[in-house]
Amino acid sequence: MDIKVKIKGTGIYTPQRVMTNFDLEEMVETSDEWIYERTGIKQRHICSTEGGEWPSDMAYHATLDALKAANLEPNDIDMILFASVTPDHKLPNTACILQQKLGITNKCAALDIAAACSGFVYGLNMATGLIKMGAIKNALVIGSEMLSREVNWKDRNTCILFGDGCGVAIVGANEDGDESDILSLHLGADGKGKEFFDQPVGGAVEPITEQHIQEETHYMQMKGREMFKVATRTLAENARIVLDRANESLENVDWLIPHQANVRIIETTGKLLGIDPEKVIINIDKYANTSAATVPIAMHEAITDGRIKRGQLLLLDAFGAGLTTGATLLRY
Ligand code: UT7
Repeated sequence: MDIKVKIKGTGIYTPQRVMTNFDLEEMVETSDEWIYERTGIKQRHICSTEGGEWPSDMAYHATLDALKAANLEPNDIDMILFASVTPDHKLPNTACILQQKLGITNKCAALDIAAACSGFVYGLNMATGLIKMGAIKNALVIGSEMLSREVNWKDRNTCILFGDGCGVAIVGANEDGDESDILSLHLGADGKGKEFFDQPVGGAVEPITEQHIQEETHYMQMKGREMFKVATRTLAENARIVLDRANESLENVDWLIPHQANVRIIETTGKLLGIDPEKVIINIDKYANTSAATVPIAMHEAITDGRIKRGQLLLLDAFGAGLTTGATLLRY
């Protein structure tokens, strides 16, 4: 039997504290004008370091809203896929921590996904495969990031770009009999670009030492221009791949929901594709780049403000460190 897959509910959590570009002007040599013109960012949300807003906490709050929207209970979740480059701890995985916080007692599978900014799309596509083959009924897919912990707040090349936040979706077998379905998907990676965006210190190869801390070499580092070039090309390519696979045309797409890394990347991708800019969802001005959380946050906002309606065709498109990439074409 052909099982259709439906996005049953979504939720987000964005930290209480807002940091504007003007706040950054006090911290590094930059300006609101430079940041907004080059990136489209005006502000970002930053997690508390006192507790209550760890990646698992943000996911907990966002999931409660998603469960409500889906009309489901925590124990209806058969699998948790937690995409993050900033997990609560090294061990156990954050998916297990979240399972316990949600009071899930059905012993469902719980896995973290390390695919950087493409993590949510990776999770959604992997869940879709398992649902379509009948192995699970409902999956909780999460992108939750506390990047503020990993950026060097003295490095203007990176610190202006990122923010914290979380977006989740509950995706499951479509039992309503309506047309909602995941129509096609694409996942990929190209390790040749692994140095474009990395954080080599802090893993098994190079544990953090006093020297790293003194020299501030343990933070995330990025070659912005290289990332920019590959990002636009890859995002446009992804869109064509999923449209081809579903035998759909771009004109039928109601909403393109791209990863929010830079408004100029999004605009260039849109131009390469030839999509109407009105159909592209952009919220980078409010949240900056929240890595795996950008796509589900943007999708949720457009669902709750009424732009995205049931039956519409959505194209989710992501790209990130690795270099990883992924896209999903779905009937919402
Ligand atoms: O999630 C996926 C990963 N992220 C991305 O894919 C991000 C991709 N890259 C980008 O978004 C852009 O490359 C950046 C926003 C990072 C940089 O923008 P750019 O237009 O490529 O600027 P640039 O790196 O070429 O820098 C231009 C100038 C430089 O000065 P000089 O060399 O021309 O004198 C920089 O030093 O701007 C300077 N600059 C800044 N000035 C003020 C760099 N960062 C800043 C800053 N404020 N924050």
